[in-house]
This record gives sequence, C-alpha cells and structure tokens, in this order.
Amino acid sequence: MLCEIANPFIRRILQEVGLVTGSMRPYVVGGFVRDTLMGKESQDLDVVVESSGSHNGMTLAQSLADKWQVDVRAHQDFGTATVSHPEGLKIDFVTARCETYTQAGVLPTVKFSHITDDLWRRDFSVNAIAISISSDQFGQILDPTNGIADLAGKRIRVLHAESFTDDSTRIFRALRYATRFQFQIETETEKLMQSAIDRIRPLSGTRIRNEIERIFQEACVVKIMQRLSMLGICQAICPQWQLPSDFENIWHNFQSHLEWAGHHLGEDVLNAEVLLWMALNLPSTSQERLLLSGRLRKKLTVREELAQRLLYEPLTPAMRPSQIYQFLKPYPIEALVSHLPQPQIEQYLIRLRQIKPNKTGSDLIADGWTSGPELAQALWKNFARQLDQEATRKTS
Ligand code: CTP
Repeated sequence: MLCEIANPFIRRILQEVGLVTGSMRPYVVGGFVRDTLMGKESQDLDVVVESSGSHNGMTLAQSLADKWQVDVRAHQDFGTATVSHPEGLKIDFVTARCETYTQAGVLPTVKFSHITDDLWRRDFSVNAIAISISSDQFGQILDPTNGIADLAGKRIRVLHAESFTDDSTRIFRALRYATRFQFQIETETEKLMQSAIDRIRPLSGTRIRNEIERIFQEACVVKIMQRLSMLGICQAICPQWQLPSDFENIWHNFQSHLEWAGHHLGEDVLNAEVLLWMALNLPSTSQERLLLSGRLRKKLTVREELAQRLLYEPLTPAMRPSQIYQFLKPYPIEALVSHLPQPQIEQYLIRLRQIKPNKTGSDLIADGWTSGPELAQALWKNFARQLDQEATRKTS
C-alpha cells in the first residue's frame, strides 16, 4: 500500500533523504505517519534507518548535513541525530533497534535491528506504522502491527502485554492520544493499563514531569488530567496529590488570565508554564516528587502565601496606588496573574510596576542626605508620592 505525502515541501525533502541513503533503508515513523494517515498536517519528522555495515542513522544524518551544508546535532545518549533543512524543517534520525527492559521504570538497553523489530518495540499500533522513503520504494507503507485498522477503528492498542510495565510513561501517553483523537483505549489495553498504575511509583520525577508538561501542550488538558485523577494516577505519583474537584473551572480561569496577560502585558513578561503548574495545586511533597526546579517551587509557594494574605488583607478600592504597589511588589508576576480578576492587581500589572523612581539614592546624597535607613525611607516617600501623582495623572 502506498501513502501520499500531501505537503509538497515535506515530500521533496523526504525524497532528498531517500536519494543519499546508498544501501541503507530509511523510513518515516511515529507521529508523522499516524497524523498523515489521519489526514492531519505534521512537521514532526522521525526517520528510522535500517543500518547496513558501518552506515546507520548517524551516518545518514551526517551525509545529509554535508549535502545541505548545515550542522548535525547528535544526542549520543539516545543514539539520535537532528538535522535541520536550510528551509526550516527539522528531521530526527535514529537507527532501527530493538529494546530490552531490564527493570521497570528505567530506560531500556538497545541494539540495532530491522525496521519490523523497531516497530514492534513501540507503544501503540497507531504509532508503529512506517513509510519507506528509499528512492525505489518511496511511499510504501509498512504496518506489521495492524495500526491502520486501529486508526480506522479509533483504538489505542498496545503491542504486547508488558508494554505498560516496561515503560509506564505509556499510561500517560495512552490517555493523551485517546483524549486528543477521541479514540477508545482498547479493552485489553485498558486492563493492562489499570494493572500497571502502580508501576508509575518507581518512575523518576523528571520523566513524570515531562509527561505532565506534554499534557500541558494538549488542547484538552482538563479531560486528560481528570482521567489521570480518576484512575488514581495522581495518587500513584504522590499520595498527597489530589487534583482540585473544581479543576475545570480553575483551568479555564487560568486560561483567561493567560489571555489577559498576553493582551495587556506582552508575550515575554510571564512564563505561562509556571501558571499551568499553579493550576494543578501540587502540595510541596508532590513538587519535590516531580523534581520541579527550586525557582518554580518558590513561585508556587509564594502564590500560596499571596492567596492566604489576600484572605486576611483584601485589596480595596480605597487603597492608594503607592499602597497597592507596596502590597504587590514582592510577588512574581505569575502569582499576581493567577489571582485575577482584581482591579488593583490589573492596575499594578499594567501601570504601577512600570513606573521608575524619579530620584535615586545618589540624587538624595547629592542633595545632602547620608546613606542609612532614613535615606531609604525618604526614597520610598518620594517614590510613593510619585506613584500616587503619576497614576492619578494617567487616569485623568
Ligand atoms: N515511543 C514509544 N514509547 C514511548 C515514547 C515514544 O514507543 N514511551 C515511540 C512511538 O512510536 C512514537 C515515537 O516513539 O510515535 C515518537 O515519540 P513522540 O515524539 O513522543 O510521539 P509522537 O508519536 O510524535 O506523538 P506526539 O504527536 O504526541 O508528539
């Protein structure tokens, strides 16, 4: 069976790859093939190369890079190499391999093999279809695991009974694909998945965090997270973690806060991912379990502190701009955005935080002040007056 690669640019690039392979056999695999067969556009090109003698994925990547006069980025740990076409398309190369899992939760040992073995080692049948890009077989589909039938039947199906125990990140992946494509998880696969949930415990924090960050990139985050929670996956990750029961509301509110921030503060002012982590309401034990960076954890803690403080000291319309400034200045922008909508926070984010003091310490010293706490107080008094005046001037 032949597959038509509709995008003429991608087709041309893949044909170019096929022309430099010599005796090697290259195939596009994974998400690109799945999406192409579903009629969706994809630019995520993974090429698997059946090695021949000393030629393999790495050497093919190097030949192409020489031809296109670009650099190869080799990732020795994973045996992969990335080449970016000068017109802007990135291709990942890897040598066909089979994998052996010696211990659950850790990465497998690999050895070079044939494309069919390489497809059988994969997560789900829909991700285990290959399209040949060798010049003599361009477009030929290889589907040893019946992935095309599962695409047509809208099913996520594992290829063997140990798939989830070998690699329990596949549990997250199954839920992600099933929700994204509105596919069913095939009955046997669902049973295997449920009985492997305990295998999430030994997974490293980094691997789980990566999976959650990939969920953040989906359009249907709420559904995926709710399914994770219902299956007991949040608790398998960390017994103290419970997804808030009103997570859907929280998430949608945070999305509108992000939109507000994009519109009023510009793109680079805040880190959207920090806000997404805030919405998950992770207790500190779970933050540690997921090995969140110290910087991110600090922001999550400070957000909680702000939430507590706002309960006891709410912002009021009677507050002067200088009071609002003093109250909100210590908090990171993400923490403030997460507490929108509040007119005082909006006022601070849009206007007050942009105002620069018109007098510095050196100016006051030049006026005869000596450094010390009184100078600091005088500086603040001056700045507070300035804030109250400028803010009033701009609104009038
Ligand atoms: N894969 C796997 N097991 C995993 C991760 C990946 O078998 N735990 C295989 C699948 O064949 C997958 C391919 O590696 O298709 C590439 O993985 P990835 O880039 O994570 O997924 P995509 O299929 O490209 O899907 P997405 O659209 O989510 O990026």
